[in-house]
Amino acid sequence: MSELAGSKGPRARPQFRNIHVSQILQYRLPAAGVISILHRVSGALMFLVGLPFALYLFQQSITSEISFESYRAIVGSVLGKLAILVLSWAYLHHFCAGIRYLLLDLHMGTAKEQARTSATLAMGASLFLTALVALKLFGVF
Ligand code: HEM
Repeated sequence: MSELAGSKGPRARPQFRNIHVSQILQYRLPAAGVISILHRVSGALMFLVGLPFALYLFQQSITSEISFESYRAIVGSVLGKLAILVLSWAYLHHFCAGIRYLLLDLHMGTAKEQARTSATLAMGASLFLTALVALKLFGVF
């Protein structure tokens, strides 16, 4: 159910209680909520996809000369590079957000505005670092 907090002045906006699935698109999740969801997504992605992928690549790289060539083909292909890029984002996001959570656990930056700023900074930092990885992967430097 949602209701309007209409009596609280010009900045009043919808308030959501027990959000229904049909209201998901109207609901503006705050930055701290977005980083939280992405932290879980990135952790799961690294665990469920990143670990098997890294182990597979490692195995291919050391088993034989033929498997090494297959490893080179995978990491040299656009699809392989995109997979590495997504996993790099997952790691970098998880790392930046994880440091933020550890600081929050130490009661640092728990005020609403600080938490919003640190969430935005952590997501921005991970996107910036991911962009650097992309440039490196696709041979810009
Ligand atoms: C890079 C260093 C890392 C840091 C600083 C870090 C930090 C954290 C922290 C603080 C949490 C708890 C978040 C919370 O309180 O809700 C967490 C959860 C988790 N981490 Fe990491 N982590 C790191 C690396 C990894 C790696 C490499 C993986 C997987 C291969 C991973 C998988 C997960 C998963 C699955 C969760 C549970 C997520 C959830 O339930 O929301 N983490 N991590």
